[in-house]
Amino acid sequence: MTEKDSQIESRDLNLWYGDAQALKNVSMNVPENKVTAVIGPSGCGKSTFIRCINRMNDLIKDCRITGELLFGGRNIYDRDADVVAIRKKIGMVFQKPNPFPMSIYDNIAYGPRVHGIRDKHELDNVVEMGLKSAALWDEVTGKLDVSALDLSGGQQQRLCIARTLAVKPDVILFDEPCSALDPISTAKIEDLIGELKRDYTIIIVTHNMQQAARVSDYTAFFLLGEMIELGKTKQIFENPEKKSTEDYITGRFG
Ligand SMILES: Nc1ncnc2c1ncn2[C@@H]1O[C@H](COP(=O)(O)OP(=O)(O)OP(=O)(O)O)[C@@H](O)[C@H]1O
Ligand SMILES: [Mg+2]
Repeated sequence: MTEKDSQIESRDLNLWYGDAQALKNVSMNVPENKVTAVIGPSGCGKSTFIRCINRMNDLIKDCRITGELLFGGRNIYDRDADVVAIRKKIGMVFQKPNPFPMSIYDNIAYGPRVHGIRDKHELDNVVEMGLKSAALWDEVTGKLDVSALDLSGGQQQRLCIARTLAVKPDVILFDEPCSALDPISTAKIEDLIGELKRDYTIIIVTHNMQQAARVSDYTAFFLLGEMIELGKTKQIFENPEKKSTEDYITGRFG
């Protein structure tokens, strides 16, 4: 992986919650327009790491970060970094679908409205494009004024993806996006991730080894706050360099 195609680069990233260190000297590159999976046992720092990428940990009291997180070559932790712009460029989808308690339309128009788009025609287009890109349009066309809370869990998760896409990010962070979903909805989200990587850089945290193997181009293995090994997914799964990676992948722990 050359520096040029690395859109996100973490350099010696350390993070503490109070006195407890949750990330230890994490250095890794995330290439553009690829899917990078983050795997590792519960509590190893996967969510903490991806939350660093859009400065979500800023919201946590007593959280301290050292090191650099470069996005497009600039450190997002620089004192003059624009956090609103960073969160617009780096969207996030969570484990539990979290639609806002409002209509399907308003969920997707929410971000663009916050960013100043008022024109009805323009908003209509953004909503339609978002729903189409998230493979939900066919299921909800004609009922955009229905509450998003009336959708199924799998539909709600695709709605959350559409909501993320509507603000035109470069990067999408997925934190176990399928763990609350049934197998059919999971397959839909996995297909969607395969489509989205044409236009977006994707990082996905997953506990599901088959899912990591199916959807990702690169895989990073974390253990106890350290990034142990990063490589092409096929290599990590078939021929890992580190014993702890192999132990985890073969189910010997975690
Ligand atoms: N808001 C927080 N305040 C204090 N400690 C936290 C906080 N969030 C996470 N931690 C701690 O940081 C460590 C890493 O947690 P993190 O949630 O990043 O792990 P994870 O790999 O995502 O785990 P899981 O697979 O269970 O989601 C854990 O020891 C956890 O208890
Ligand atoms: Mg987590």
